[in-house]
Amino acid sequence: MQEKILHLKSEIEAFEIINAEKLELFKNEFTTRKSKVALLFDELKNVPNDQKRSIGQELNHLKQLAQTKYEENLAIIEQKSESDKSINEIDLSLPLPNSNGARHPLTMVRERMIEIFSRLGFALGEGPEIEDDWHNFTALNFPPNHPAREMQDTFFIERNPDIALRTHTSSIQIRVMESNKPPIKALAPGRVFRNEAISARAHCVFHQLEGFYIDENVSFLDLKNALYHFVKEMFGQDINIRFRPSFFPFTEPSAEIDISCLICKGKGCNVCKHSGWVEIGGAGMIDPQVLENCSIDSKKYTGYAFGMGIERIAMLKYQIKDLRLFTENDLRFLKQFDSL
Ligand code: DAH
Repeated sequence: MQEKILHLKSEIEAFEIINAEKLELFKNEFTTRKSKVALLFDELKNVPNDQKRSIGQELNHLKQLAQTKYEENLAIIEQKSESDKSINEIDLSLPLPNSNGARHPLTMVRERMIEIFSRLGFALGEGPEIEDDWHNFTALNFPPNHPAREMQDTFFIERNPDIALRTHTSSIQIRVMESNKPPIKALAPGRVFRNEAISARAHCVFHQLEGFYIDENVSFLDLKNALYHFVKEMFGQDINIRFRPSFFPFTEPSAEIDISCLICKGKGCNVCKHSGWVEIGGAGMIDPQVLENCSIDSKKYTGYAFGMGIERIAMLKYQIKDLRLFTENDLRFLKQFDSL
């Protein structure tokens, strides 16, 4: 009898209860009225009288052991099924409170710029970010080894001097002119890359919006009118604009576009370096050689072009002092734009 008790004890101890089915099995084998433990109790009547007491005690311990094991595992399994239930109850399609996404300030500014110009009849053009020398430089009148190339520090691809990350969206001018016939009136927004150290005022990746118009009799006045319209729409009617003579290889004459400083209203401050003016981009009449490079008859057609930094426009519009904020994804910065 004692042997049977020991045997059953080790059986109870070794029984692994890993799930609800095993628990049910354990219950039937060791704790119910027809269980192995109960059957041993039935045999107690055959035990000699002088041993009945001690064997009875051992049997009681055995019964207790099985009962405790059953109850402990019942509690564990019930708890587990509760938490399983709550996992299953998560509704992944339920919108979170205050979880509305927001557009990035650069996206908003780009879309606004495109909207303003598209009302003047500009269509959208595009080109690749990895560009060849012809489209980024040569066709735009940057001759090989010409110092003008150094205006833009370039990232080349794997030591191949012919392939680079585009340094400006002017490359898209060439792509659009090569594959269309005038009249062409197009915008080209995009990401551009320059090998520059990152600071509050410079970044190696930024965005530009290029615009150009080629037709018969397009003049510098048309360029001025388009940009005049743009700055008033973008920054308000009080803004002033001026064209400062400059140099770009692909335009002749060339100008830099300045607007009156929004921060000091032209009185002079740190942002405008006390000049009352801030630069927003470059512009000019497309050099006839550039038109010819794209098989456009420069005797018949003339064109203007402009290029603006989207970060620069956004910084002026929202008075952002550090360019790095646009790429750091700090929610404290981004959240300020979610109601705009
Ligand atoms: N591509 C010039 C730059 O990134 C900007 C520019 C100047 C674009 C004059 C133009 C232009 O279209 O006419 O510095």
